Amino acid sequence: MKLTTIILAAGIGKRMKSATPKVMHNIGGRSMLETILATVSEFDCKDIRVVVSQDLEKFEQFEALSESYDFKSFQQKERLGTAHAVSCALKEDSKNAVLILYGDVPLISADTIREMIKKYKAHKADIVCLGFKAENPKGYGRLLCFNEDLIEIIEEKDATPEQRKINICNSGIYIINQKIIKKLLEKIENKNSVGEYYLTDIVKLANKDKHRVITYITDEDEVMGVNDRYQLSIIERRLQEKLRRKHLENGVTMIDPQTVYLSHDTTFGSDVSIEPNVYFGLGVTVASGAVIRAFSHIEGSVIGENSVVGPFARMRKGTVLGEDVKIGNFVETKAAKIAKGAKASHLSYLGDIEIGENANIGAGTIVCNYDGFSKHQTIIGKDTFIGSNTALVAPVEIGDNAIVGAGSTITENVAENDLSIARARQINFHQKAALVRKKKGKKG
Ligand code: UD1
Ligand code: MG
Repeated sequence: MKLTTIILAAGIGKRMKSATPKVMHNIGGRSMLETILATVSEFDCKDIRVVVSQDLEKFEQFEALSESYDFKSFQQKERLGTAHAVSCALKEDSKNAVLILYGDVPLISADTIREMIKKYKAHKADIVCLGFKAENPKGYGRLLCFNEDLIEIIEEKDATPEQRKINICNSGIYIINQKIIKKLLEKIENKNSVGEYYLTDIVKLANKDKHRVITYITDEDEVMGVNDRYQLSIIERRLQEKLRRKHLENGVTMIDPQTVYLSHDTTFGSDVSIEPNVYFGLGVTVASGAVIRAFSHIEGSVIGENSVVGPFARMRKGTVLGEDVKIGNFVETKAAKIAKGAKASHLSYLGDIEIGENANIGAGTIVCNYDGFSKHQTIIGKDTFIGSNTALVAPVEIGDNAIVGAGSTITENVAENDLSIARARQINFHQKAALVRKKKGKKG
């Protein structure tokens, strides 16, 4: 069944107390709106319409989104309620049944939408409303049902104390027959406690005209709404639980899963092991057998098979590790290609660098990649040995098999097989310690 999808995203989200429009707040590393667009892109839906406010439309990240997803924006100039928002998107008629999603209900799954479509077709319904049983129904619209038929939706603000006891709630997600939607929207009035045009009133009006309105009930987990940052944190937690569970079931070990933060696109091979307190930002791929040790912060990186990272490692965008690489404690990497078997075990900064196979980067090695104006590249050959506390002043190249002595400041290229030492020469003054003590007038 072909669908027109309308995503309502023009609300100001006052309760978020934020300069960022509500739907642009992130969960799992991407905005709520993008999360929904990604779900919709699992369908063959060519007609996606997003109802936006002026603020949202000129928001930078929103502009970026419209480059990666194929949707059309419809501006709602005045925020007159959810029914008015849908009307804005229907300025162009829809040829298909209309799926309505709320931008602040981001965890809806494609499977549930498929089930709603099935029910819409099987029951020859005119409206399917997605409901859920709420643990705490406060703030949600309540569904007044008669068996599977939905008679009316009452908003909490307008509900009687008796109706507020109902815990079957409205998710804000519906499929509505394109033949009736515009006609019914026109009939919706704003005679309620807040003077808004409620989309939820469409249910009562549809029943009046003898259209078939039914519910499909799903888990609360996927239809929780976000109106404030506390609810945003709850949604994030639910999403994290879902992501962790998926990876655990796919063969990843997490000693303490609750302390591992994942992004929506984190990818693991089999038998990856993750110690407690690890953060995976966007764009991380970890190959089979790798171990991520405690307190590591990783983003935009690829970790090769059987590599070991951390504890306390920081891997930034553009890090690519080959197989069997070791990145130890207090090592920071950025735009770093580190080949098979190489090791940087302690206290290093490795930025804008290529490191060859089996190279050993000693403790405290720092790449000076920035001269205050621009960034420069460092290349280290295979089987090299960089002694501890070396400063590599980029641009610089160290050839294969070279050895750099500890404490060197390397400013010039080192050819392959060369030994390079670049530090002040040590001078030992034979038996002169006693002289110093005498001069200072005390025993040291
Ligand atoms: C809405 C439902 C409620 C449901 C709840 C689920 C209505 C009247 N109420 O309440 O029954 O239980 O969602 O989370 O629909 N929006 C616009 N333009 C507007 C108003 C809202 O685009 O003029 C958008 C918002 O950005 C948001 C969505 O519509 O994404 C819902 O609006 P919101 O104000 O959050 O409605 P709720 O009070 O949560
Ligand atoms: Mg809401």
